[in-house]
Parts: sequence; structure tokens; C-alpha cells
Amino acid sequence: MNGELQPEEMGNVAELLRAVPEELVSTGSAGLDEMIGGGIAPGSVVYVCGPTGSGKTILSEQMAYASAAAGINVLYMYVAGFSESIVNRVRNLQNFAFFDAGAFNVSVAYHNIFPVIRAAQSTDLLYAITPVVQKQQAGLLVIDSIRTMLERLTEFDRAEKSLRQLTEFVSEQKLVAMLVGEYQQDDIVRQPQFAFADGIILLTAPYEAPDGKRHIRILKMRGANHSSKGQQVRISRSGFEILRNINSEADAGVSAA
Ligand SMILES: Nc1ncnc2c1ncn2[C@@H]1O[C@H](COP(=O)(O)OP(=O)(O)OP(=O)(O)O)[C@@H](O)[C@H]1O
Ligand SMILES: [Mg+2]
Repeated sequence: MNGELQPEEMGNVAELLRAVPEELVSTGSAGLDEMIGGGIAPGSVVYVCGPTGSGKTILSEQMAYASAAAGINVLYMYVAGFSESIVNRVRNLQNFAFFDAGAFNVSVAYHNIFPVIRAAQSTDLLYAITPVVQKQQAGLLVIDSIRTMLERLTEFDRAEKSLRQLTEFVSEQKLVAMLVGEYQQDDIVRQPQFAFADGIILLTAPYEAPDGKRHIRILKMRGANHSSKGQQVRISRSGFEILRNINSEADAGVSAA
């Protein structure tokens, strides 16, 4: 049971497309939406990759609060630990214009990833995740970080099965899943899991780039005529922004006076 139309129910192409309108989910960044052809299709698994400090969490949080504002409930699975306590999280989030205290832990629900990993080790990832997604009636699922999850599951030979289950679940339930991971381009080329992704967004940190700036590149976005050009990114109180035309003074954040 996945709500998928059967061939005999489809009719012609026009009827099919009318019956199943594709409402794309915004990333919360107008510039990024534009780069990927408007947003992310429900049923997609999209990786947000990049090294530490590249902005993966800020982009994901921004998408979470934008989704909440658009009426989409969010389940945000995070690594609860010393530096990532929920108190620190709120403290950091309060720096950003996109943060909505009223949505915090209501339409954007936070869930510690470790009990889910433990359940996936001993039983099944879906067994752990399904009730939480259903309770939240989530349309967007963020796993920050999927690398933490998969590395622990690899020790128990559960990583591949869990990822496959997750992908099927997301597709059947028409969710959008943002899988945040500390992966770099080399990992993406080498690891087979990326072949099954619907989208891959790669962020780079200022310390990596010769120009000392943040960048973003879309490595893949199924079904979209996405831009393959890298763009410069800025993180500020306004959140995660794509700077196009970086030669233009306005886009570089310089007052045109
Ligand atoms: N209010 C702010 N204004 C400008 N830049 C900020 C602000 N808050 C954080 N940053 C920048 O964003 C970076 C952190 O981004 P983020 O936490 O999203 O990284 P990440 O890719 O999730 O890293 P990790 O893999 O370690 O979790 C910080 O290193 C800092 O440079
Ligand atoms: Mg992070």
C-alpha cells in the first residue's frame, strides 16, 4: 500500500499530471530553489554533503523552518551530544532570522538520533522511525547526520538495509528526506549509496577554497534541469544565501548607496 497509481488508473499524460500535481518543497533559500528548478519533489532523498562548518546544519534548519511556515511538519533527527545539546541548538538558532520560536519542537520536532540507531541495530530502522514520523505527521525528515547513523549501523551489518528501507519509506510516504552527512566529493564518487539518491548538494567551507569563500554545487537533482555551476554562499543572520553575480555590489552585500 503506497498510494501509487496503477497503470489502468492513469489515463493519458495530461490526466495523469493533473491527478498527481507535483508541489515542490522549498529549501528555504530562494537562490537554491532556483538552482534546482524550483524545489524538491516529494518522495525524494537528497543528501546535503560537505565538511565540518560548511553550513549543512544551518541550511537544513532553514529548510525546516521554511517548511513549517508553509504548513509542512518537520521531524529533525539530530546527534544529541556535548556540543549539540538542545539548549545550544536554540541559542544558535536564535541568531537567525528564519528561526520561529513558536514552531520549535512543535511543527519542527527534534528527535535524538541515538535511540533510533539503537533500535535499528537490534530490530529495524523502520520500526524505530515510522511511529515518530507518523506522530509528527512529518512531510520533511532531516537526518543530521546520516553518516553518524550509517557508520554505527555498519558495525552491525545493518547500514545497507536501513538505507534501502528509508529510501522506500520516503518514496511511498511522499516525504522529502534531507540526509546531512560529512561527505566530500571523493566519498560521493566512491560510495554506492549516492547512486540511489535523488539529489546531492555539496557545500564547501571557506578553509577549503582558494578564494576563502563558501560554495555550493548541485551534483545531482533527478528530474530537474539543475545548474551545475558552483555558486558562492553567504551565511549571516539572514541565514544561508546563494550569491549570484558575485561581481554585483548588491549581491556581494555592499550597499549600492
Ligand atoms: N550567525 C552567524 N553568522 C554568520 N555565520 C555563522 C553564524 N552562525 C554560524 N555561522 C557559520 O556557520 C558555520 C557552521 O555551519 P553549520 O553548523 O551549518 O556547519 P555544518 O556543516 O553543519 O558542520 P558540522 O559538520 O560540524 O555539523 C560556522 O562555522 C560559522 O562559520
Ligand atoms: Mg552540522
